[in-house]
Amino acid sequence: MTVVAKPQARPARPFFSSGPCAKPPGWELSKLATESLGRSHRAKIGKSRLGLAIDLMREVLQVPDTHRIGIVPGSDTGAVEMALWTMLGARPVTMLAWESFGEGWVTDVNKQLKLDASIISAPYGEIPDLGTVDFAHDVVFTWNGTTSGARVPSGDWIADDREGLTFNDATSAVFAYDMPWDKLDVTTFSWQKVLGGEGAHGVIILGPRAIARLESHTPAWPLPKIFRLMSKGKLAEGIFKGETINTPSMLAVEDVIFALEWAKSVGGLSGLMARSNANATALERIVSDRPWLGHLAKNKATRSTTSVCLTVAGADADFIKGFAALLETEGAAYDIAGYRDAPPGLRIWCGATVDTADIEALGPWLDWAWESLKQ
Ligand SMILES: Cc1ncc(COP(=O)(O)O)c(C=O)c1O
Repeated sequence: MTVVAKPQARPARPFFSSGPCAKPPGWELSKLATESLGRSHRAKIGKSRLGLAIDLMREVLQVPDTHRIGIVPGSDTGAVEMALWTMLGARPVTMLAWESFGEGWVTDVNKQLKLDASIISAPYGEIPDLGTVDFAHDVVFTWNGTTSGARVPSGDWIADDREGLTFNDATSAVFAYDMPWDKLDVTTFSWQKVLGGEGAHGVIILGPRAIARLESHTPAWPLPKIFRLMSKGKLAEGIFKGETINTPSMLAVEDVIFALEWAKSVGGLSGLMARSNANATALERIVSDRPWLGHLAKNKATRSTTSVCLTVAGADADFIKGFAALLETEGAAYDIAGYRDAPPGLRIWCGATVDTADIEALGPWLDWAWESLKQ
């Protein structure tokens, strides 16, 4: 057996997980503000920190005043479920699905809410023909398929004169791609992806048409308290000012404030997008130099620049498991095995909190693992 020489330099921060993702460069627990901890989240300090997190998200994401931003329980899943359960049922529904998370929302809408939605799907690595979507329906989609590395190319396919609402699960997309807010009635995400924040809380962004739906439509099913956006027949406006439905983690809130301030320090949205694009380009170079690596999403126009999914020639699930474990043991790369439901392969996060030099340093380690294991 040939012994393959180990590369000399390791990525300085070998954090390539697709969620929770790498913390922002320079992050340290001791740098977080702590004055709001151990206090009521409804005290002046707590409310002002929650309000600041909302204001910073609005500023960095360039969300117009027409849209409301709320911090809700249950991470992105909580925000998506809250949207589906409170607003669907008023008109026919089309679900778009091209990987595990989108498929999960199909299950919820058809099996739990029993809405018999139309399903437009595509295999892992592809997206369906977006030209076939009927915007008389409510349309639920995932902007960036985190488990397949395929994403919508833009919002151009969304009709301006739509009758239905658009529901955009943008967890691994916001802070990495431009969001056409006028076309997005409901957008959800969690802080644990491009921002490198923590799980636990979701964010829901509602446009005027979503608010109109909430005010005019009463779901045919009961709603648990943590889904309720209406109070006494009116929109619960406090939620959009930091009066959360139940107790939030103020530590997670302080952490996201740190991340958003870091985002501003690197140039805001365009700075974040530039960092992510540079990472994806560096990874693309690694892939194109190696015949044994390929992109699961073949079409570059719909290939993710955050959760980049790679094929490995001849690899099965066990090979990938060994590959990822070897690099983890070496401290060269953490959490790069593809998602459990996706075809066996690697998934390397290229969001803004990853440094391009670390993606570049990963290349020789991928070679080393490949050479070591294929023997
Ligand atoms: C597209 C998408 N939707 C939903 C989720 C679930 O997010 P959370 O665990 O924050 O609820 C994820 C998590 O990876 C995701 O990538």
